[in-house]
Amino acid sequence: MTKGRELRNRSGVQAKRPASVGIPATLCRGMLLIAAMFLSGTVMAETPLERGAYLVRGIAGCGNCHTTRDSDEKPIAAMELAGGRVLDAPFARIVMPNITPDKETGIGIWTDEQIATAIRGGKRPDGTLIGPAMPIGVYRGISDADTQAIVAYVRSVPPISHKLARTIYKVPVPTSYGPPVGTVPEVPRADRIAYGGYLAGPVGHCLFCHTPMVQGRSDVSRTGLGGREFPVPGGGAIHSRNITPDPETGIGNWSDQEIKTAITTGVRRDGGLLVPFMAFRWYAHINDEDLDAIVAYLRSLKPLTTP
Ligand code: HEC
Ligand code: HEC
Repeated sequence: MTKGRELRNRSGVQAKRPASVGIPATLCRGMLLIAAMFLSGTVMAETPLERGAYLVRGIAGCGNCHTTRDSDEKPIAAMELAGGRVLDAPFARIVMPNITPDKETGIGIWTDEQIATAIRGGKRPDGTLIGPAMPIGVYRGISDADTQAIVAYVRSVPPISHKLARTIYKVPVPTSYGPPVGTVPEVPRADRIAYGGYLAGPVGHCLFCHTPMVQGRSDVSRTGLGGREFPVPGGGAIHSRNITPDPETGIGNWSDQEIKTAITTGVRRDGGLLVPFMAFRWYAHINDEDLDAIVAYLRSLKPLTTP
């Protein structure tokens, strides 16, 4: 704030002496007005690329799956989105693909439209379907603007040559995720609960992991109850937890800050550490406003008791 004011004051001084900088006074004043509006936050000019970077590095956490890991399961920053993480699930040997713009081993020759169709429709340009190891079903609800933003960011990361095997499914995979995704409007950010639900649902797939599945579909009557089983690298399994407002078995008694700390750092209310399966490292970049919206949404869920 102070910084903005200082800059505006300095601008004001300049505006009185346009001749000294050789720019017509009106133009100069116009430019300064735009600068002042920008600094005071009147204009929230966020480019699609900036929005995409914020989403992919934050709530969408694409890199939690798609970024290459070292032998300690730590993401390698220089291999962002270059793939290669392997998870052995009962239903598949999952190999996270390289989605950097490398032309041979990544998705460098795909058009924007084709990348968008892969994310929301689950279809590759060659017509094959991306299997259920990627949460395509929920991504269908990502808005058109956010999809374009995500595509813009994915295209902007450095291309990395990293040839990988494909995922092998041990169960039949869907032949379609439904009709082509038409138009998905943006969810108004002023509606905190609705926007929080949009972030926790389509963009961040919190609910996808935290809602029990029945025959491959989330059981919406038990949204947030948890209990889904996930394989952990190196063997074994963990279960997602109850994130409904139930005071005993959910997070009803947690403060907003305690919920936010769990999401962004993986430290529970009781100080225990959560298994780093959820994308804490990415969620740490979610801004406070969006975290508040997510918390507001979680608090709006029907309280459910873990059986
Ligand atoms: C839970 C892990 C997971 C998350 C999160 C995830 N993906 Fe994927 N993605 C996969 C897997 C696994 C495949 C390949 C599945 C298959 O081969 O059946 C895939 C495939 C893809 C493909 C097709 C690549 C190819 O060569 O076939 C694209 C593009 C893609 N993901 C982009 C994204 C973007 C963008 C995000 C974030 C919005 C994202 N993914 C989030 C696991 C994930
Ligand atoms: C890929 C699956 C997955 C996604 C996505 C995911 N979670 Fe989780 N979450 C888990 C698992 C598994 C645990 C339990 C880990 C453990 O017990 O160590 C957990 C734990 C939690 C906890 C701690 C609850 C407790 O009682 O300790 C909270 C809160 C939580 N998740 C909220 C969220 C929110 C909010 C999002 C979205 C921003 C999210 N999760 C996304 C799988 C996921």
